[in-house]
Amino acid sequence: MAERDLVVDVRGLKKYFRVRQTLFSKGYDSPWLKAVNGVSFQVSPGGTLGIAGESGCGKTTTGRMLLKLEDPTEGEYRFNGRDVTHVKRRELRQFRRQAQMVFQNPFEALNPRFTVYRSLLEPLLIHGIGSRPEQEQRINAAMERVGLKPPNTYYEKFPHQLSGGQLQRIVLARALIVDPIFIVADEPVSMLDVSVRAGVLNLMQEITASMQLATLYISHDLSLIQYLCDDTAIMYLGQIVEMGSTDAVLASPEHPYTQALVAAIPVLDPETEPPEVKIKGSVLSPIDLPEGCLFQNRCPYAERICRSEEPPLESKQSGRSVRCHVVN
Ligand SMILES: Nc1ncnc2c1ncn2[C@@H]1O[C@H](COP(=O)(O)OP(=O)(O)OP(=O)(O)O)[C@@H](O)[C@H]1O
Ligand SMILES: [Mg+2]
Repeated sequence: MAERDLVVDVRGLKKYFRVRQTLFSKGYDSPWLKAVNGVSFQVSPGGTLGIAGESGCGKTTTGRMLLKLEDPTEGEYRFNGRDVTHVKRRELRQFRRQAQMVFQNPFEALNPRFTVYRSLLEPLLIHGIGSRPEQEQRINAAMERVGLKPPNTYYEKFPHQLSGGQLQRIVLARALIVDPIFIVADEPVSMLDVSVRAGVLNLMQEITASMQLATLYISHDLSLIQYLCDDTAIMYLGQIVEMGSTDAVLASPEHPYTQALVAAIPVLDPETEPPEVKIKGSVLSPIDLPEGCLFQNRCPYAERICRSEEPPLESKQSGRSVRCHVVN
């Protein structure tokens, strides 16, 4: 796909935070925490990219930079053909409409004092969309699209009067009502009861496909990513360690970390049990990173070079990229 057709195109995106180690330390002498350490990827219209990796690896920070809730420390961000890396907040009006977030916790995402109707009206008022009758039409259409029918029976309800699944549908409707082209869904169903997750996920898949939305799913749950995403990026300590089509990455993971993650996906069929990959120890501190590969202390295959040189993320002919000295 030509670059100009991409919705999201990020190159070398980094986010470092200053962290105060004591209550009285001054800001300027505090060390940096490398939350995101040079990630590059693209999402096209209708494309779905999943970002997976364990807690603290920088998934949410990446999503927040893509929504321009956080400015990158370094790198380039092109959105729908336009360089938005350094765009000022007041020039972001159109961007804010086109790029929407589906929050993790529907109970917190909605104002408890707003009725459903008011919650859905709010983004239309903020973006100055439509006359009163057009706004009502949009609200009805958005509610029907997320399966809340007939819409008017929900108009006057408050969040505490709805179930978790219904609330997550309202959150989704609120993101869709302004006609976005890009959605970031950060752990979209992790707060929901298992019994309603599948319904909400099916719905999201159906909607993003029919509206040709570019979607970034963030989750530590690989089975969710397997179900929803065309492509998958596996993150470790702020970097992408493996990326490619979801089928390929999950069927034949190449990076030792991906192998360990895939081996941990529960399988129901004992005959197809994947080989166990033992990773030891725990993830390093993002404040004090060593030379060489960031996975070296846990990797069963680490060699001498892994302790001195950082492996690059190398693209292979198969379209897969892997960051590893040993498998490359
Ligand atoms: N505003 C901030 N100030 C300082 N450090 C931060 C800030 N936001 C995030 N971090 C740190 O950056 C790193 C990445 O955090 P992030 O929330 O992106 O991880 P995550 O992959 O989303 O984790 P989880 O799966 O737990 O949601 C963590 O070490 C976190 O503590
Ligand atoms: Mg997170």
